Amino acid sequence: MKKLRIALVGCGGMGRFHIDYFYKHEPRIEFVAACDILPERTQAVVDGSFPGAKQYADYRELLKDPDVDAIDICTPNYLHSEIAVAAFAAGKHVFCEKPDAIDAAKAAAMRDAAAKAGKVLMVMRNNRFTDAAKYLKKYVADGRAGEIYAGRCGWQRRRGIPGKGGWFTTKAQSGGGPLIDLGVHMIDLAVWLMGNPRPVAVSGQTFRKFAEGSDVSDSEHSQFGDAVAGGTFDVEDLAMGFIRFDNGAVLQIEFSWASNVGKERRFVELLGTKAGVVVDNSQMKIFTEENGELLDLVPPGEQKDDGHARNLKNFVDVVLDGAEPCYKPQQGVDMIAILEGFYKSAAEGREVRL
Ligand SMILES: NC(=O)c1ccc[n+]([C@@H]2O[C@H](COP(=O)([O-])OP(=O)(O)OC[C@H]3O[C@@H](n4cnc5c(N)ncnc54)[C@H](O)[C@@H]3O)[C@@H](O)[C@H]2O)c1
Repeated sequence: MKKLRIALVGCGGMGRFHIDYFYKHEPRIEFVAACDILPERTQAVVDGSFPGAKQYADYRELLKDPDVDAIDICTPNYLHSEIAVAAFAAGKHVFCEKPDAIDAAKAAAMRDAAAKAGKVLMVMRNNRFTDAAKYLKKYVADGRAGEIYAGRCGWQRRRGIPGKGGWFTTKAQSGGGPLIDLGVHMIDLAVWLMGNPRPVAVSGQTFRKFAEGSDVSDSEHSQFGDAVAGGTFDVEDLAMGFIRFDNGAVLQIEFSWASNVGKERRFVELLGTKAGVVVDNSQMKIFTEENGELLDLVPPGEQKDDGHARNLKNFVDVVLDGAEPCYKPQQGVDMIAILEGFYKSAAEGREVRL
């Protein structure tokens, strides 16, 4: 059996998640090394999951290791591009957590370095891999929803600021707040389901109302990132806006880490001339009309999410077997350009052409 020798860079919350949900169960993976600036984290990976794996504190040293075919980047956002570009120069394949990068130029540098090296770059798009998303992608592509002309998407959290005061809430390290953290998931899902129309303009506003804390712990539903008491919080906690596409379609967006809504919800709702298609917390719904009756189509049981593991499996299939990648690096550049345009719009109080 062909095997992919992989190393994990960044052994925090998401890195450990990749290990538990994928690497431990995938026979075509040989987990050869763990890298983190905190030695106790690489030690925990070795002790807990992969005895015998090598440990590195500096990713540049790891990249010299000839036993490594591919790396999986699970570091803070601002390091994604730098580490990926260095990995391609060293002849490695790269899987990277979302968001692709903290600005479009850095995402483009990753795309270009991958092309130059002739290696695979894939950035996590786990929401494309849920049962609901896979079904609806085919439903829309087959024309059963008709023309998709408008929609809305979002991820609204009532309370759930990741790593408050740490890198997540520091613009220079994260690139932004919930728009880049959560928007990259659901805007990508919406645009992908719509058939990848080209975004041409964006307008939006951002708010920061929970930086000083609330009586209820404002991070209670967030398991990611390490909080730092008295640390930096210079990103938004709510982003609301509007995207226009070259085919005339539009998308309303809303992303919050903390806002006084009823409960957490992540969703895409697209309006087609024949049907409306909805992903609601990874469950699918279709609203249509047949034989003169309005009809709601809802699967009988829970649909599986499992998107992270399936996305990582796609990476292994692409590298080892030349399978079709779910993600094209240009889509990452386009996605980050939307977010960059949004932040510009919020700062300047006007619609921004892309
Ligand atoms: N797809 C998803 O659903 C999802 C969910 C959460 C987080 N993420 C993404 O995963 C990434 C990591 O997030 P997290 O929640 O695990 O953060 P985290 O802070 O828990 O982990 C980051 C790790 O990177 C390490 N690190 C920092 N600088 C490093 C360097 N130079 N070299 C090696 N390691 C370094 C840190 O010590 C830490 O252990 C982020 O990009 C985040 O957006 C994705």
